Amino acid sequence: MNAHDLINLERYALNIPGAAYDELVEQIHAQLANDGCAVLRHFLSDQGLSAVRSEVDAVSHCGHRSHNRTNPYFTQDDPDLPIDDPRRQFFERSNNFISADNFHIRGALRTIHDLPAFDPFIRDCLQQTRFYRYADPLADVIVNMAEAGNGFPWHFDTNNFTVTLAIQNAESGGEFEYAPDIRKMDENFDEVKRVLNGTSDRVVSLTLQPGDLQLFRGRYSLHRVAPLSGATARHVAIFSYVEEADMVGAPERSRQLYGKALPIHYQRAGLRPDQFLD
Ligand SMILES: [Fe+2]
Repeated sequence: MNAHDLINLERYALNIPGAAYDELVEQIHAQLANDGCAVLRHFLSDQGLSAVRSEVDAVSHCGHRSHNRTNPYFTQDDPDLPIDDPRRQFFERSNNFISADNFHIRGALRTIHDLPAFDPFIRDCLQQTRFYRYADPLADVIVNMAEAGNGFPWHFDTNNFTVTLAIQNAESGGEFEYAPDIRKMDENFDEVKRVLNGTSDRVVSLTLQPGDLQLFRGRYSLHRVAPLSGATARHVAIFSYVEEADMVGAPERSRQLYGKALPIHYQRAGLRPDQFLD
């Protein structure tokens, strides 16, 4: 499998430095500056999309389900705040992630990710000086599967940006909805409250099509995946980058999201899976 067959390089010549590359990156800068979101439509070729789809279908039974209740800030409830404060609005969140160790080094997803020009292109688009692949062997490339009713409730991301690849849509729903730069200067709780109760006019709805690549700055833009319906799950791959080298997730978080943690998670956390003195 060759990344040149999987990525639509005719439209997105990210592997060829020059004027066309510079123009593409500038267009993406403009989209990101405008509302924190850039979409590269048909980033995958038809062959690429079908290869990724087959790869994900073959391991979809390996997904790990977890549930929790969360507010948009992933903080604990604070009973001292008014009952209608956005920090006190909790929503059901269910996850079903296929962890990164299910994706083979020569499979379609990693072949795309490992195209030598891929990371530098994403870094140029995001204008990041500190930019590293997540070193977590369970989380550098994952797939989120959302089933009927699920969606993903309103939240701000704790990381500055996310890179996602749409693979499969639900029969209906599952749009990506976001309120661009809603907390640019301050938390803007009044407008956040309006988004949560469905009365804000700042929400943009975006329908991603399978094969589209999305770059999103989720730190300042409240966002969600709208509830979805039908028998088909929504599949999205997430490529993770961080601002520090050699970073992996905390063991507890890894167990919660992927149902397991590896020795590297304990070592990097300064912990050991056993209780020996050394
Ligand atoms: Fe997010």
